Amino acid sequence: MKKSQQQNRREFIKKGAAVAGGFFIVPRHVLGKGFIAPSDKLNIAAIGAGGKGSSDIKNAYNKGAENIVALCDVDHARCEGTIKEFPSAKLYKDFRKMLTEMGKDIDAVVISAPDHIHGIAAMTAMQMGKHVYVQKPLTHNIYEARQLTEAARKYKMVTQMGNQGASNPGQQQMIKWFDEGKIGKVKEVHVWTNRPVWPQGIKVPTDKPALIESMSASDWDLFIGPAEFVDYHPLYHPFKWRGWWNFGTGALGDMGCHLIDPPFRVLELGYPTEVECSVGQVFTRDWTPEYIPEGCPPSSHVQLKFPATKKNPTDLTMVWYDGGIRPFHPSIIPADDDIGDAGSTNGAMLLGEKGVMTCGTYGLNPKIYLNSGEKLEMDKNFKTDNPNEKLPEYGHHVSWTDAIKAGFNSKEHKALTSSFDYAGPLTETVLMGNLAIRSYTTASKDKNGKLEFDGRKKLIWDGPKMEITNYKDGNQFVGRKYRDGWKLI
Ligand SMILES: NC(=O)c1ccc[n+]([C@@H]2O[C@H](COP(=O)([O-])OP(=O)(O)OC[C@H]3O[C@@H](n4cnc5c(N)ncnc54)[C@H](O)[C@@H]3O)[C@@H](O)[C@H]2O)c1
Repeated sequence: MKKSQQQNRREFIKKGAAVAGGFFIVPRHVLGKGFIAPSDKLNIAAIGAGGKGSSDIKNAYNKGAENIVALCDVDHARCEGTIKEFPSAKLYKDFRKMLTEMGKDIDAVVISAPDHIHGIAAMTAMQMGKHVYVQKPLTHNIYEARQLTEAARKYKMVTQMGNQGASNPGQQQMIKWFDEGKIGKVKEVHVWTNRPVWPQGIKVPTDKPALIESMSASDWDLFIGPAEFVDYHPLYHPFKWRGWWNFGTGALGDMGCHLIDPPFRVLELGYPTEVECSVGQVFTRDWTPEYIPEGCPPSSHVQLKFPATKKNPTDLTMVWYDGGIRPFHPSIIPADDDIGDAGSTNGAMLLGEKGVMTCGTYGLNPKIYLNSGEKLEMDKNFKTDNPNEKLPEYGHHVSWTDAIKAGFNSKEHKALTSSFDYAGPLTETVLMGNLAIRSYTTASKDKNGKLEFDGRKKLIWDGPKMEITNYKDGNQFVGRKYRDGWKLI
């Protein structure tokens, strides 16, 4: 294919097939079954290629259905396997450099870096006309989630958040059951996780171990990105950044977008109106708890209130538990039955007028326990409209690449289970819990230096305005301060 044709194709994908009115290139079916013309492939770049990035990239690549043209990671040792798997991909450490240098040769970007990078990387990519797949939680804070949701519409980008359970047939089964009126109206939802399963609720490290061999000081600076600068420590990278507000979003951020997703989707919930929490405390001395506002707590208990929706015409209370605390068995669930995942480690329960609907992580293993004593399990022949359901992670990545090719606002785009129109409000809801936790765990000092916890109360939330109306100080956690040289827009 001539360079100018390739260029046109890039433009076409950027604008979307629906807008342009159809593919101008030779379509797959003309070339024969199973054959993918090079011109039919998306050029995909990745930001964060180790950890979850390795499977995200492989799934988006889809055995060669697309091209992986560039990999950006601040620690090339962490993503060694991915680099070997895609030897022709150009390697970068700074995603801004990658997007600027390769600009026109990238159609779409998979973002699997830690949470604090998601917002800025996705916004930068979308502003350059790149479609994005962004790991959950969509962003580090509520403000960024709202901005990305609006930007995806503004720039007409095809987007998907990496809560792959959204594409799992289990969730479709739950929607069908609820819509058939199996459990009636729901007044209470309980959601729980065994996270954190990494160090959390610990003091900020004060020792200064040498930087790992695979990273230079400037690589560490790129890891920090928009966050507040702290020296390297193995308690941050890799993986353990989750437990620190500077980078991560704690247990809620880790599992909320998987576990709150089914009730949020089934009941078509909107912004919560109230949130309240309490958290586990840590004592290393008698009577005086540790004060660690930089770190997420070892456990938390959060209650969110939602107004009635069209789908569920009654007020609703959602209760979240993490750190190993979980709800008790409702009386209609037999004592020996696990709820949600095996061992009841993670799960969601919707308490309805006529029974209880449950599921595990990703909406797996959906069940209903009816008040009548009857128990319903997933219909083995359940049919979904997801053509990619048998692919890894229920085809969550391939549905996104298919939708990019079909174009913005196409049928395929509208069928995406976690485009930002949905993922943004879901993430905001999940991060409302963190807003409450940070308000609860951050103190001000009175004139004698005594800590005062003014945010330890029920918080009233104005969703459209993104504002706590009865505790102004808490609003500092709606967004974040960006380090000099980094900004969202
Ligand atoms: N959907 C899921 O099932 C699932 C599972 C695990 C993790 N996740 C999500 O994936 C994301 C990554 O988590 P993880 O467990 O893979 O973390 P990790 O620390 O194991 O891996 C993150 C990777 O990103 C790289 N990185 C860090 N900062 C970067 C930057 N500024 N630019 C480019 N690369 C950078 C790291 O070097 C590392 O290779 C998180 O948002 C997490 O919530 C999702």
